[in-house]
Amino acid sequence: MPGLFDPFSLKNVTLRNRIVTSPMCQYSAQDGVANEWHRAHLAGLARGGAGLVVIEATGVSPEGRITPACLGLWNDTQAEALAPIVAEMRKAGAVAGIQIGHAGRKASANLPWEGDDHIPAGDPSGWETIAPSAVAQGGGLGRVPRAMTLADIERVRGDFVAAAERARDIGIQWLKLHFAHGYLAQSFLSRHANKRDDAYGGSFENRARFLIETLVAVRKVWPEDRPLSARLGVIEYDGQDEETLVEAIELVKRLKAEGLDFIDVSIGFSTNEAKIPWGPAFLAPVAERVRRESGLPASTSWYISQPEQADALVREGKVDLVTLGRPLLADPHWPYAAAKALGIEDAAWKTLPAPYAHWLSRYRAA
Ligand SMILES: Cc1cc2nc3c(=O)[nH]c(=O)nc-3n(C[C@H](O)[C@H](O)[C@H](O)COP(=O)(O)O)c2cc1C
Repeated sequence: MPGLFDPFSLKNVTLRNRIVTSPMCQYSAQDGVANEWHRAHLAGLARGGAGLVVIEATGVSPEGRITPACLGLWNDTQAEALAPIVAEMRKAGAVAGIQIGHAGRKASANLPWEGDDHIPAGDPSGWETIAPSAVAQGGGLGRVPRAMTLADIERVRGDFVAAAERARDIGIQWLKLHFAHGYLAQSFLSRHANKRDDAYGGSFENRARFLIETLVAVRKVWPEDRPLSARLGVIEYDGQDEETLVEAIELVKRLKAEGLDFIDVSIGFSTNEAKIPWGPAFLAPVAERVRRESGLPASTSWYISQPEQADALVREGKVDLVTLGRPLLADPHWPYAAAKALGIEDAAWKTLPAPYAHWLSRYRAA
């Protein structure tokens, strides 16, 4: 079985190793446009050596952003600002990915470090939120969304397609649809959030419809030779876990039949009543099951921080890729440190750009 530092190929794309920089919102954009912060952040992560670097959850429409400072990809100005950053990521040897999404009932929020709650109604920096049903997330996210009409559903699907086209045209090689974390797509699937009684609510078939239709529409414009992936919350830890997981695996199979190439296994976050068993790599057994039963290559995330643990998850065939967030914020050169810790010296040098590798390998020789 391959290990963490073996390459991974999917469609026409090859990752130099199996470490993925998980999408991480920076809450640092204005009008959805990337700036110097995003350039430094993303180029730094790409130089850090991960095989795939995924740009943060990027709104497909203004109302689809989580906060007013989230990235967007609904206009050409936003695409033009991202294009040179994507080029820089690729030049550093990373495969460039982006996550596109719509925040649904969790949109119109304050920055995490300014409350992480909904912007109060009437504040001009906020906006009307939409969701499958007029049911609030709860807690600090108490704003009741407007239930989407069929026209809204069609429009948002079109927004996903337009964002995918822009991502395609600026050289993004790996597209990740945000179907997780209680945002719009996850809300359609969730029994907590979706109380509709039309073709988009009720039965599993109906709750899955928005996600499948969106995937089908995006696949039509996303090049056949580039991976199309999704991040899906497959479990809520709400006491109904087996039922939720069985449905999620069935959905992944259907998405696969419609052209999904890769699944990133995550948590639903559709209810504030969840009891999540936080701990090292706690989601890995769930990911392994999704991978095995769906037959799709998979990754997972959450509290994977030790090199031996990450390598073992790959070697044991639990996942094909490991998706790291906070360990890479703490040290973008985590891949270098991990390869050293695993004793794979050659791989360690390969994670570094030449101006760093030259000196560090000289130091090794001394
Ligand atoms: C600052 C920050 C921003 C995040 N933004 C996103 C995001 O844009 N999209 C997403 O799917 N997950 C997001 N997450 C979750 C991470 O992608 C990741 O799954 C999570 O941090 C768990 O991995 P870790 O234990 O390695 O940090 C974010 C996490 C952090 C810490």
